Parts: sequence; structure tokens; C-alpha cells
Amino acid sequence: MQLVQPTRPGFDLEAVRRLVGDDWNAVDREITGQLSSDVALVNSVSHYIINSGGKRLRPLLVLLAARSCGYTGGQHVLCAAVIEFIHTATLLHDDVVDDSDLRRGRRTANDVFGNQASVLVGDFLYSRAFQMMVQVGQMRIMDVMADATNAIAEGEVLQLMNCRDPETTEARYLQVIYRKTGKLFEAGMQIGAILADQTRAVEDTLVEYGKQVGLAFQLVDDALDYMADRDELGKNIGTDLAEGKPTLPLIYALQRGTPAEQGAIRHAIEHGGLEQLDAILAAIHRTGALAYTLTRAREAARQATAALARLPASAYKDALADLADFAVERRY
Ligand code: IPE
Ligand code: IPE
Ligand code: MG
Ligand code: MG
Repeated sequence: MQLVQPTRPGFDLEAVRRLVGDDWNAVDREITGQLSSDVALVNSVSHYIINSGGKRLRPLLVLLAARSCGYTGGQHVLCAAVIEFIHTATLLHDDVVDDSDLRRGRRTANDVFGNQASVLVGDFLYSRAFQMMVQVGQMRIMDVMADATNAIAEGEVLQLMNCRDPETTEARYLQVIYRKTGKLFEAGMQIGAILADQTRAVEDTLVEYGKQVGLAFQLVDDALDYMADRDELGKNIGTDLAEGKPTLPLIYALQRGTPAEQGAIRHAIEHGGLEQLDAILAAIHRTGALAYTLTRAREAARQATAALARLPASAYKDALADLADFAVERRY
């Protein structure tokens, strides 16, 4: 069953990257330059994950946010690299917590180097990101980034508390995804506005865009965990169910399922594992749980685009609208 439209013809992530061309290359150089450490294992693990081909959507948002607000300085490059470091640190930790062995189409860092190295190099990336923020030297930017990093940690802990709990509600799920994913998208947009010295009103609208795109992005991630092509996604499928992680597709199917379906879903959440995979997939499809999750994602993306109204017309603004669509239509 095809539940996600293929990526809209004409949308091209590469074209958005070309739009910020020199900045994009500068971010790449900044990321590589800032990775250096005289501790060999830090270099090995950090280069392994950084060079494994992430989409780099969050740094792209920082660049587009700053440019769409007319920023002409150069600090957005360093800020974009900071955001990617924080994102990468969360992935190193997340793959340990989720016991994942595939990311970006390659073995995860924890699978190659072990959990201890992954956690510790995640800490290296967080702390390097904070050193870089000090280089930027703006207290408000540090404030935004410190809050976002703290919220991500809370989100991951809240998610841990929801794990194996079939009473997890949609509201509790939304809290988790806002903190663990929405906050960093939000922070990236806010930093762009702060650098460009925008009014609080403009800053707030960019924050709203970032929040909604982040929510859409994670809602789709949680749908893809039940429906993606593993090779295209570059991550394993079915991992949330295996962990007993109640994401929206499961929460919705549990609400709408027959007593037998509810029994199977409850059992799967409480015990994890994939023994009942077929029955649970059937319940997810029968109840329309993926379609519901994707509809929620589309609504969030629409709100994101609506929030851009305050910005003057520009190619950067158009690219932000395209990225909101990409968050929903993506297959990887
Ligand atoms: C993965 O994010 C983590 C989630 C928030 C779902 P991305 O899909 O942006 O990861 P990379 O950086 O492109 O690999
Ligand atoms: C996103 O959650 C992780 C972070 C924001 C740290 P997931 O656990 O769903 O991300 P993936 O699927 O492993 O990329
Ligand atoms: Mg994970
Ligand atoms: Mg996931």
C-alpha cells in the first residue's frame, strides 16, 4: 500500500543547497575543521559519523533563516555547524539508547566502535559545540542553544519513560517529539533571526516554522519506521515496535483497534520484540494509523509554511517552504 506521495517532482534538495552555495561549502569546511582532536579515537568516531552522509537539513535551515532575513554577515556558518554537531551528538547517544545498528546506510558508530566510545564522543561533540558557541559570542544565541540542548535531553528521557507503557497518549507523544526533534529545528531558525537582528515578532514566526517542520519531520520518521524501504531510508525498519516505543502509528491503532488488535498492540508495547509484527502491521493499516500520522505531519508542515508570511519574498523563503514539504514527502 502506498501511503506517502513520492517526493514532489521538481523538489530538489541539491538545488536548495546550491542556493546557499558558498555558505554550504563553508559549513562543510567548518564542520571538518572543528572536529580535530589530538585524541585518536575521538577523531575516528567523529569522522566516521560526520562523513557518513547525513542530509544536513538543520544547518541548511540556519543558513536559509539568516539569509531570508537579509543577514549579510558570516556567523551563520559557525552557527550552522554548531547545530549539526548537536544533532550528531544526539544521534550517537540515540543509537546507543535504541540499540540501533544501521544509520545513514552504514553500521552505526556504536556497532563499529562500541557503546562507550559512542557515548563519550557524543559528549565531545556536545562540548565542542559549546566551545564554538562561545566563539560566536552572543549571549542570546547561547541561551537558545543551551535551552534546546537541555530540552532534547529531557525529550529523550521522557521517551524512555513512555517506552513499554501502553497508556502513552498522543499528547505525551507530542511532548516527546517536540522536545527531542522540534526544539533543534526551532533553535536553528531562531538563531538565523537573532543574527539578522530581527524583531521579536519575526523571530517568533521563524520559531513557529522551525517547531512545526520539526514536528512534521519526526511524525514522518515515526511513520517511515513502519513503511520505508530500508535501503532508501538508510536505517532499519520496525525498530520502534521492537523497542516497545509507543509512537503515533501505534498509539492511534491502539485507540481504534478491535479488542483482539488492542491486545496484540498492548502486548507488543509492554514486551517489545517483533513476534507479532504481521498482526500489528495489519492493525496499523486497517485503522488508517499511518495515514493519520501523515495527515498530522502535513498539517504541521502547512502551519510552518503559513508562519513564513511575515518574511519578504525571496528565493530563500521559497526554499524554506519547499523544505517544509520535503519534511513530509521524504523517503529518507
Ligand atoms: C534523524 O534525523 C533523527 C530524527 C530526528 C528523526 P535526520 O533524518 O535529519 O538525520 P541525518 O542527519 O539526515 O542522518
Ligand atoms: C530521533 O528519534 C532521535 C533524536 C532526536 C535524537 P529516533 O530514535 O526516531 O531517530 P532515528 O529513527 O533513530 O533516526
Ligand atoms: Mg533512534
Ligand atoms: Mg526513528
